[in-house]
Amino acid sequence: MTLEEAKAKLEQFGQEHVLQYYEELERPQQEALLEQIGATDMSILESCHHREELAQKGVITPLACMELPEIEEHRVRFEQIGLDAIRAGKVGAVLLAGGMGTRLGSDDPKGMYNVGITHPLYIFECLVNNLLEVVHRADAWIHLFIMTSEKNHDATTHFLAEHQYFGYDSHYIHFFRQEMAAATDYEGKIFLEEKGRMATSPNGNGGWFISLIRAGLLDTVKNAGIEYMNVFTVDNVLQRIADPVFIGATMDRKCTVGAKVVRKNAPDEKVGVMCLEDGRPSIVEYYELTEELMNAKNEKGDPAYNFGVILNYLFYVPELERIVNGDLPLHVVEKKIPHLNENGVFVKPDAPNGFKFENLVLDMIHQMDSCLPFEVVREKEFAPIKNATGVDSVESARTLLEKNGIIL
Ligand code: UTP
Repeated sequence: MTLEEAKAKLEQFGQEHVLQYYEELERPQQEALLEQIGATDMSILESCHHREELAQKGVITPLACMELPEIEEHRVRFEQIGLDAIRAGKVGAVLLAGGMGTRLGSDDPKGMYNVGITHPLYIFECLVNNLLEVVHRADAWIHLFIMTSEKNHDATTHFLAEHQYFGYDSHYIHFFRQEMAAATDYEGKIFLEEKGRMATSPNGNGGWFISLIRAGLLDTVKNAGIEYMNVFTVDNVLQRIADPVFIGATMDRKCTVGAKVVRKNAPDEKVGVMCLEDGRPSIVEYYELTEELMNAKNEKGDPAYNFGVILNYLFYVPELERIVNGDLPLHVVEKKIPHLNENGVFVKPDAPNGFKFENLVLDMIHQMDSCLPFEVVREKEFAPIKNATGVDSVESARTLLEKNGIIL
């Protein structure tokens, strides 16, 4: 993009300040900035002025969950279906590791965090160990796709290579990068992170499938015969990945997506809950749950919206291909964004100071025709690490890991 074109684009979106240091830059930095301006979608930025409208929901009704007793009753059969699918190469796993983990506050990718006490035990290592249990059980390798972002790709790939992928066969590991989006202040003005660079952040975990395709990995999926992809988060150190029982149940019920859920521990617990929205599967966030929905009961007399998602979904690949060109809603999220302040000094805020623009994987559920919410035991499968201390922290995850017999 030429300087004139960049000026015109910035003027159109009210972002002229992005070029304020342009004259001070060396030629290569100038070119890099013009290229970044050309490649950045600025049309999404004005959405920060009507965040409430973006969050509008349709009519919410309950969606029945497959609960523990029903799972127990069919466990052996479901497990067999799942193991057969894994052995036939029909199941792949997708680790969403492109996030910034700002709440945890470490500069390294979250997966590099050491949760061990007497010996090193990294988050990535916990996840690989969990997946290896299934690999050994099925006696078949499972392709593992790892999504990173521009910000943490090199650190992630080097770390895993340095640790020999914690015993995973590297032929079955495939990295791909997600896209980035500009980050703004509360007025929607793009921050600069350097004099010649706009502040960007990963654009949310909802773009994982399109990013996988852009990285040329759909051929790998097809050639391997993968029909189901188990998408999971980097920060739940207890989760079961490619769980044969979950796979078997989702396949048996002929659902195009399965979602692992936990029973809420209080009506107002801060988790997104499974529901139907205008008759289609969906997730309603805790802050969207009205008092009425919170206290609603189903025909059994149990709370109707009682199962929270833990970001562990099993998607049917042909359905992913069907929805890939559809638009996902945009989420405008308040975050801490490091930037150059008005004096041109780089600062790292310790409280949220602006917006990031994200698409979320949970919105893909609403595009699917059928969804199986599948209950798992919270103490055995849900130990998220979001914060350094307190709720969903390193401390709470360590307690749960120890309860599950993991030596720290
Ligand atoms: P979170 O919503 O917890 O975000 O991600 P985060 O960026 O990791 O952490 P905070 O909010 O800054 O503290 C849930 C999962 O989605 C992945 C994360 O890596 C995590 O596994 N994710 C999130 C991505 O892969 N890309 C993104 O752009 C955002």
